[in-house]
Amino acid sequence: MKKMITIVGARPQFIKVAPVSRVLRQTYQELLVNTGQHYDFNMSGVFFEELQIPRPDYNLEVGSHTHGKQTGMMLGAIEEILMKEKPDGVLVYGDTNSTLAGALAASKLHIPLFHIEAGLRSYNRQMPEEINRVMTDHLSNLLFAPTERAVHNLALENIKHNVRLSGDVMYDAVRYNYELARSKFDVSNLGQSKGSYYLCTIHRAENTDQPTRLKAIINSLFGLEIPVLLPLHPRTHKILKGLGLMEEIHKHKHIKLMEPVSYLEMIILEMEAKGIITDSGGVQKEAYFAKVPCFTLRDETEWEETVETGWNTLVNPLTMDLNKVMNQKRMSSYKDDLYGNGHASQQIVSQLDAFFG
Ligand code: UD1
Ligand code: UDP
Repeated sequence: MKKMITIVGARPQFIKVAPVSRVLRQTYQELLVNTGQHYDFNMSGVFFEELQIPRPDYNLEVGSHTHGKQTGMMLGAIEEILMKEKPDGVLVYGDTNSTLAGALAASKLHIPLFHIEAGLRSYNRQMPEEINRVMTDHLSNLLFAPTERAVHNLALENIKHNVRLSGDVMYDAVRYNYELARSKFDVSNLGQSKGSYYLCTIHRAENTDQPTRLKAIINSLFGLEIPVLLPLHPRTHKILKGLGLMEEIHKHKHIKLMEPVSYLEMIILEMEAKGIITDSGGVQKEAYFAKVPCFTLRDETEWEETVETGWNTLVNPLTMDLNKVMNQKRMSSYKDDLYGNGHASQQIVSQLDAFFG
């Protein structure tokens, strides 16, 4: 049996690893490494419990640091594990510092590297994620692209032969968990009903680290006419507190501040929302799966298909009136297979089988 080491560490990676591990473990020995990039219970532990993710074999407990230090600490610790365990391959997800650390450690030791969610590009090198993606893609031995566009992006960088169009494992996750989520959560518990509120998440550095931009986002939420559920990422919470903005937010009663919610609760909140305002990559796609209009607080997106089909609108909070944009009528077309058929995990594991021959 081949031995695979999977490296995760941040919230979206816990969500992505759940469906893949379930399939992978049928025929592979998988060891799970959790870098500990995210560590609060509601950013980490809750997903392990709720999604029945196997207990990590290694917890690195790296925590929060500057980019270089965080990535470096992970790199050293992952290298030690890889040298001890001598796996046949290393699996990394997405574009976080945990992804890059795993990719560097594996490739320096000449261990085959597999990248799930390869080929995403914003073409904005100011984003730490863009650096992580480009580096990881160029180091990978097999690249699992979720969309046709991702395959195309890789081809533009001359990465062609080791690319596999797999579909998106986040679509697998939603399909697998939908019934369970429905049985557990109901927005009436929050005093809401279908379409009675907007859902908002904000955490991307380009929004949180520029006070004028963050203030503009918060001001635009103040101007909305129905409740806004705002499960706050700890990064954003800390920055808003530091800017002294929390008191003002509390004064606007239609802004419903929440701790980060669990995945099952989140997918129900998304499905029942009138609209979703976000800068999250994963949430943009989930809005599309839920057929809920999405308003993305960014100047570009890696998930262009959602914009082309009309379900997603890019909003610059400094120059555009969010309320006005949200009330504009837009035409939308829906393609069921934009992100695969909900069996990306199976597709990935069969391609791994083929790789190992
Ligand atoms: C990271 C990823 C980003 C991803 C996001 C998902 C990188 C460069 N960024 O961004 O791509 O979209 O995760 O959520 O890897 N914090 C806590 N508790 C936690 C986790 C974080 O308080 O459990 C706070 C700390 O103050 C920390 C800050 O949030 O400094 C940022 O965390 P970090 O993991 O560095 O980046 P994210 O913004 O979460
Ligand atoms: N998510 C969650 N609870 C929250 C906010 C987000 O479970 O309070 C989920 C969301 O449903 C999606 C994933 O986290 O599956 C997206 O992760 P995040 O926004 O942190 O990162 P990104 O996708 O931007 O890298």
